[in-house]
Amino acid sequence: MALHQGGTDGDGERHRKLALNPFYGVADPVGDMEAAPPRHRLPDGPMAPTTAYQLVHDELMLDGNSRLNLATFVTTWMEPQAAALMGECRDKNMIDKDEYPRTAELERRCVAMLADLWNAPEPTATVGCSTTGSSEACMLAGLALKRRWALRNADRYPGTARPNLVMGANVQVCWDKFCTFWEIEARQVPMEGERFHLDPQSAAALCDENTIGVVAVLGSTFDGSYEPVAEICAALDGLQERTGLDVPVHVDGASGAMIAPFLDEDLVWDFRLPRVASINTSGHKYGLVYPGVGWALWRSPAELPEELVFRVNYLGGDMPTFALNFSRPGAQVVAQYYSFLRLGRDGYRAVQQASRDVARGLASRIEATGDFRLLSRGDELPVFAFTTAPGVRNFDVFDVSRRLRERGWLVPAYTFPANREDLAVLRIVCRNGFSADLAELLVESFEQVLPELRAQSGPATRDTSAATSFHH
Ligand SMILES: Cc1ncc(COP(=O)(O)O)c(C=O)c1O
Repeated sequence: MALHQGGTDGDGERHRKLALNPFYGVADPVGDMEAAPPRHRLPDGPMAPTTAYQLVHDELMLDGNSRLNLATFVTTWMEPQAAALMGECRDKNMIDKDEYPRTAELERRCVAMLADLWNAPEPTATVGCSTTGSSEACMLAGLALKRRWALRNADRYPGTARPNLVMGANVQVCWDKFCTFWEIEARQVPMEGERFHLDPQSAAALCDENTIGVVAVLGSTFDGSYEPVAEICAALDGLQERTGLDVPVHVDGASGAMIAPFLDEDLVWDFRLPRVASINTSGHKYGLVYPGVGWALWRSPAELPEELVFRVNYLGGDMPTFALNFSRPGAQVVAQYYSFLRLGRDGYRAVQQASRDVARGLASRIEATGDFRLLSRGDELPVFAFTTAPGVRNFDVFDVSRRLRERGWLVPAYTFPANREDLAVLRIVCRNGFSADLAELLVESFEQVLPELRAQSGPATRDTSAATSFHH
């Protein structure tokens, strides 16, 4: 038997230590109890992973329960298989199309599926991309509108003309951002009386030769109502006949573009309307994927000016990209493809129908308490907004939101935009995972808090700016 003997290597080699990743060392657990890491400065040294985990975990316990968050449109439950796939892909950077060609291919398939779903005249000619969400998708779509307008008006811009974008005052904040970031005048049609979103006549009336486009929202963030996309397009057709102005439409389908194709098949809102140049949606809303994915599609390459598209090297070839970010997680795109594959049209229809049924049923139950007036009924997006009934003086919507929060429910209360700032509402977003059973428990919570609220001498919240305001 060979005897092993140390020290045959040279002197330097004998003293060489194993390479140890700083993550591998488990620090002294007793010592760890004394180490009180600073909160706003990088600690001087490492600590045991178990300790670090527990510290972070414990602090996060005070976050709300996402499944009870009826404020968010964003997916809060996916199947374990989707979570497993996301775990498998969490190290993949979406931009590394060369290194992760299959992820890139799944993204391409998702774009093709959406083009087909949204009735693109030539699905193979449709161009599109994934984004981090609808906000980025809206920025990209808005940029394409602006660039097309600038190309058409090269004689006046940037010299004298100032571009504008026409939309309702109910648009999501991403459109205000877009206009501010890219120096575009936001022409917003205010709400009027019981009209809580853009109307065709006002949209056409605000357009002029500097209008880069009109944004039509399929599924208003404020009350879940669909804007009349076909009628807006028709009003713009009329404008073109009268004045020659040809104003394109972008449909912000952050939520509705993944509801209407399944539940409202007769509603014509998509690429069937020739004036619709582009559409966005949030994969992470009714696309049923955890946060971090959106989609933007253009009818054809003509709607997306070539100079906005950047080229990255893809398998030695040329991969066009259009994005604000460079690095971005690939996992969400993979999860989107999983959901498309897993559910198909029938599966999506069943899931969205269940959410709509829950929304409608819950809206009726809340109306039946007699304390509330519904502003929408959950029959477009599975979302509804309601305010206190005319005779209710003892409490307001902010009181209701606060009292529900004591029972774990996150239901936002907020005021409407111009010209209905006088109107304060509650809004409930019904999503996959918010079951009829959970809705029943919410009704029970209403029944528990209402007697106490009715017994109040008046609303407790005087300062509405301090009230809950989370509604995006
Ligand atoms: C109509 C609309 N557009 C855009 C957005 C922004 O979407 P995201 O959160 O995916 O960036 C939202 C979010 O609620 C929305 O409702």
